[in-house]
Amino acid sequence: MARHLITSAIPYINGIKHLGNLVGSQLPADLFARYQRARGNEVLFLCATDEHGTPAELAAAKAGKPVAEYCAEMHETQSKIADGFRLSFDHFGRSSSPQNHRLTQHFAGVLAERGLIREVSETQMYSPTDGRYLPDRYIEGTCPNCGFEDARGDQCDNCTKQLDPVDLINPHSVISGATDLEMRETKHLYLCQSLIKDEIEAWIDSKTDWPVLTTSIARKWLHDGDGLQDRGITRDLDWGIPVKKGEEEWPGMEGKVFYVWFDAPIEYIACAQEWVDAGKGDDWERWWRTDKGADDVTYTQFMGKDNVPFHTLTFPATILGSGEPWKRVDYIKSFNYLNYDGGQFSTSRGRGVFMDQALEILPADYWRWWLLSHAPESSDAEFTWENFQSSVNKDLADVLGNFASRVTKFCRSKFGEVVPEGGAMGALEAKLIADLAEKIREYEAQMEAHEVRKAAGALRAAWVLGNEYLQEAAPWSTLKADPEAAAMQIRLALNMIRLYAVISAPFIPDASAQLLAALKTQDDGWPGDLGAALSVLPVGHAFEVPEVTFRKITDAEREEWQERFAGER
Ligand code: MF3
Ligand code: ZN
Repeated sequence: MARHLITSAIPYINGIKHLGNLVGSQLPADLFARYQRARGNEVLFLCATDEHGTPAELAAAKAGKPVAEYCAEMHETQSKIADGFRLSFDHFGRSSSPQNHRLTQHFAGVLAERGLIREVSETQMYSPTDGRYLPDRYIEGTCPNCGFEDARGDQCDNCTKQLDPVDLINPHSVISGATDLEMRETKHLYLCQSLIKDEIEAWIDSKTDWPVLTTSIARKWLHDGDGLQDRGITRDLDWGIPVKKGEEEWPGMEGKVFYVWFDAPIEYIACAQEWVDAGKGDDWERWWRTDKGADDVTYTQFMGKDNVPFHTLTFPATILGSGEPWKRVDYIKSFNYLNYDGGQFSTSRGRGVFMDQALEILPADYWRWWLLSHAPESSDAEFTWENFQSSVNKDLADVLGNFASRVTKFCRSKFGEVVPEGGAMGALEAKLIADLAEKIREYEAQMEAHEVRKAAGALRAAWVLGNEYLQEAAPWSTLKADPEAAAMQIRLALNMIRLYAVISAPFIPDASAQLLAALKTQDDGWPGDLGAALSVLPVGHAFEVPEVTFRKITDAEREEWQERFAGER
């Protein structure tokens, strides 16, 4: 039995994510986790909320709540929605957990001891009225470029010019409106990535099987401009993990916290500790420490392309630099963006479908199927309602759903709700079994290669074979002349429904469970020999006709939803 550690990029806490976020990390990670479990492998699948940083503070302020309270509530909300999409995390942790505080401080301490952290003096805006330093987004003023009055410290939303807070005319604090801002000297910590650049580069170069999207982004950062730069890993914020050297205070760093991108990936490890502390597992080191057995773990990470630099460079620098035997990632699967109906998803403009809204209008499987079968792998992809409607109606309702319903209903009316006996199989059946075996082996190969769209394609092709067989065998016409043959065909077709339920479960787990329940079987073992897999339901085995597995999306619904999710224009 192989062991798979699987992590999805951990979503920011500030709000509910849209379908583009979902398909870029959590959903394909879940697909892969479910598939590996179905193959009988041992899986630890982890995700968490990414809770620190300015966006979390600002979202809490906007909601009028203390940030800790906001994060606790939003974590619950995201956790419920993840359940709704059937994301099968073994643990859904929080980057603000005590485990992550300890581990992040531990890493900083070890990196400092090994000379990989240096202190840098910088000047930064300080607000005496607020009693704190103000990060860029906490300062607004008039844009020196276009005169727009509400330009932010980092960028003008009107003319898009990148700014420095010192460029602003009449700068003021977003928190209090105070204008008595002053520049002050402050010290920050930098992670000396440049010192381990060669080691990181050699490691990336050794990953010849990684997607080009992943390695090209990593190489760009390694080589563009002056090459891999040291990175600031501390911030002047209240909310975050206090800067410490292990358990000790860090002189000069009082009141500062680690930068969110330093502690967030460390949560992948801390989350395994949380999983144990929650009583769900008994040994996290087996998954994360190569001196404790993790060297036979295969570790796969899933993320959107914007996350790649942090996972190929910064986080590896952290764990490599520690000199400790941490498990390193074996495969990084990254995704392009999903666009929405001719533009981008937009949180601020309410444009596109967000995870909670999606579940209000249709069950999870409909979304899972469309999103995974259109995953933005080789390029950006686009969600359109027309495409969504036609994929769901064709693939799910006409092909898979219709096969299950036709076969079970025909059997009920001609032979009753039990698997009929019938005669021996013939050449048509032998060909079907061989074709199915080929498609399933292809499906497995694509899954192992992390090719999500191609795996969906192979699965769909396996469903299509069922319909084609039914069309050709035509048990409804065979029935009169040769009832034995018709019974055999239906026996085989009933077994095909079970087979489809098993192999489709990673994509559409609810439909799969529904079909297995209707077939009154708990045998969901992965098909090895196809002949054997297609005779699991024995003659005389009772079943029920399933409720409608997939319904069609009407034109009226499509139009209504298109209008509803268009956002403010
Ligand atoms: N919160 C980030 C995002 O949504 C992802 C963080 S992934 C981690 O883009 F590795 F840093 F945890
Ligand atoms: Zn401007």
